[in-house]
Amino acid sequence: MQIDIQLLPLPPSIEILSGRTVVVIDVLRATSVIVSALARGAAEIIPVSTVEDATRVAETFPRGSTLLGGERESRKIEGFDFGNSPAEYTSEKIRGKRLILTTTNGTKAFHSVAGAKEILAGSFLNARATAQRCLDSGRDILIFPSGDKGRFSIEDVACGGMLIERIAERRGRHLDLSDAAFSSRLLYERFKGGLVEVLRLSDHGKDLLALGLGEDLLYCAQTDITDLVPIFTHGVIRIF
Ligand code: MLT
Repeated sequence: MQIDIQLLPLPPSIEILSGRTVVVIDVLRATSVIVSALARGAAEIIPVSTVEDATRVAETFPRGSTLLGGERESRKIEGFDFGNSPAEYTSEKIRGKRLILTTTNGTKAFHSVAGAKEILAGSFLNARATAQRCLDSGRDILIFPSGDKGRFSIEDVACGGMLIERIAERRGRHLDLSDAAFSSRLLYERFKGGLVEVLRLSDHGKDLLALGLGEDLLYCAQTDITDLVPIFTHGVIRIF
């Protein structure tokens, strides 16, 4: 089994994607929201790239069945039901509903890797289960941190490093790590004693702190609070 991680969020070629399991990671906060909303009973999540797409897609479903969530510049979008804080997605509001989600980087990342054999949503919240799913697939793995407007995101790469460590613990020497995968595992090693630290010093974490959203960092730094692994297929993210 080969594991690679794309350190910069550039769309991979179809040759790289085909046959692989891809794990999309946006710790702050898209994949943490996706994992949390599905864990609290959302029926499915449709990730879209633009605000216009979100409202257009919502109109194709019966009124009342669908809610809109997401952010621009980390703030709730006008007229939407939710922003991008996981705590907003309570089971009272989300259970049984379809969520149309648009975020700056995370929701676009799913579409960037759409040619992969299988696409998972990973985060610290579901790291153990995601690692197990990667192992069960038996495929080569590409971890795809969604980054920040095309730039490297330290918190996403550290989360990728955690996944790699969890897979390596079980798979031992039968694992072929790329240089990027090896480096992200080392990055995770540096922060594993207190993951909130890497979120606080990240560029995006600092932006969220400045907006008074420090609770989101504490929430997203939790590990293994659910065994659910969301899967993106045919444009929709669900638990199968
Ligand atoms: C993103 O997709 O870029 C993030 O989720 C942004 C955020 O939550 O502030």
